[in-house]
Amino acid sequence: MGVKIVETSLRDGHQSLFATRMTTSEVVSLAKILDDAGYYAMEVWGGATFDACMRFLNEDPWERLREVKKVCKKTKLQMLFRGQNILGYRHYSDDVVDMFCKKSIENGIDIIRVFDALNDLRNLRQAVESTKKYGGECQIALSYTTSPVHTIEYYTNLAKEVEKLGADSICIKDMAGVLLPNDAKELITAIKKNTKLMVELHSHSTAGVCELTYMAAINAGCDIIDTCLSPLSGGTAQPSTQAFNTVLKNTKYDPMLNEDALHLAEPLMEKVKAKYLENGLLNPKALSVNPNILKYQVPGGMLSNLMNQLKAQNAMDRYDDVLKEIPNVRRDMGYPPLVTPLSQMVGTQSVLNVLMGERYKMVVNEIKDYLHGKYGKFPAEVNKDILKKIIGDDEIITCRPADLLKPEFESLKEKYKDIARSDEDVLSLALFESVAIDFLKKKYDEEDEKEEPESEVISFNLYM
Ligand code: CO
Repeated sequence: MGVKIVETSLRDGHQSLFATRMTTSEVVSLAKILDDAGYYAMEVWGGATFDACMRFLNEDPWERLREVKKVCKKTKLQMLFRGQNILGYRHYSDDVVDMFCKKSIENGIDIIRVFDALNDLRNLRQAVESTKKYGGECQIALSYTTSPVHTIEYYTNLAKEVEKLGADSICIKDMAGVLLPNDAKELITAIKKNTKLMVELHSHSTAGVCELTYMAAINAGCDIIDTCLSPLSGGTAQPSTQAFNTVLKNTKYDPMLNEDALHLAEPLMEKVKAKYLENGLLNPKALSVNPNILKYQVPGGMLSNLMNQLKAQNAMDRYDDVLKEIPNVRRDMGYPPLVTPLSQMVGTQSVLNVLMGERYKMVVNEIKDYLHGKYGKFPAEVNKDILKKIIGDDEIITCRPADLLKPEFESLKEKYKDIARSDEDVLSLALFESVAIDFLKKKYDEEDEKEEPESEVISFNLYM
């Protein structure tokens, strides 16, 4: 059985390289060709794709999904979401998570990959349950990071729990691209030995070690790798699909991809890439190896965020101080993996600690919530003095955070009843409220204008 390939160019590829701006028509024309490539799945949907669709492209993310589904008859469609946060930045109640899984699957998603920034599996339970309930395939991704607590044993124990939770497969999600070949070998070997789960590896070429890491993982029994069609591969995105297909060809790992389909898609992808290079959304820097990643263990996206924050404060001269402060804040917080939303939280707090001249003089609200336990279990103990300074004697919740939330889908539906025309709209509004309000108002105003005067009367009467 060869290695399976998940194509990421239509989600993570353009998210990593040019701020997720590929349009629906670009995505659909590529998906149509790539459907013949023989992938295990194509990743096409996620938080940033959803947000950017409405915010920058004036397109409906749900419609994109349906359009892609129409042209993908052979390949499973995959999405990524953040457990109880879904695609947003707070915890949603279980019934909203359930509705989101239901609607994603109904509109075309086959595989749902879920992860939690803290690897707190309680935040993934509902997503797994609902995905299975509506006939989807569910994969749990573990956020990979390095720290004194994030050992092979830690990840192996988590993997056993993932299997118990009923996930169909497990993914090691190395969002920063810091997983090294020898660690990958040990990690994959241990998970394969201790579970029956299919194992997938997701990493990024940012640090220049990813291809070596993938090969080590494959030799250790990794079942699936995430790769990106050549024109979008490398740099902050994934390694090249074509390169791996060629290297593994005629070996026992042969992914057996259809090279004609890949070749056919290349010029089109080149054209798309050229467009974003020219309009400046694709910074050539994103295409080369970043030496800071291995040194600071910080994801590429987080570094560019920090630079923007410091530029806005006219404080670029403090960049190195902030980079040095990040590991300190992370240690104080019990070593959370630096992935959304923790990467933004730790990054912003580090900026504040440096610019205010006193550590934790000012504290971001999300960090306060985190220390109250609202995001889930801390990976390791947090710094007691800092904890005391920030939240005093406040109680820290230890239950599953979503257990404190009442069902909210019906009240959201009521809240948005003047704008939303479907449950999908309600979900868009619940996840990205202000962006979705602007987008949907515009969308429906335009649609209504286009209608014949007669039907306008009918719809007017209907809504009386
Ligand atoms: Co990624």
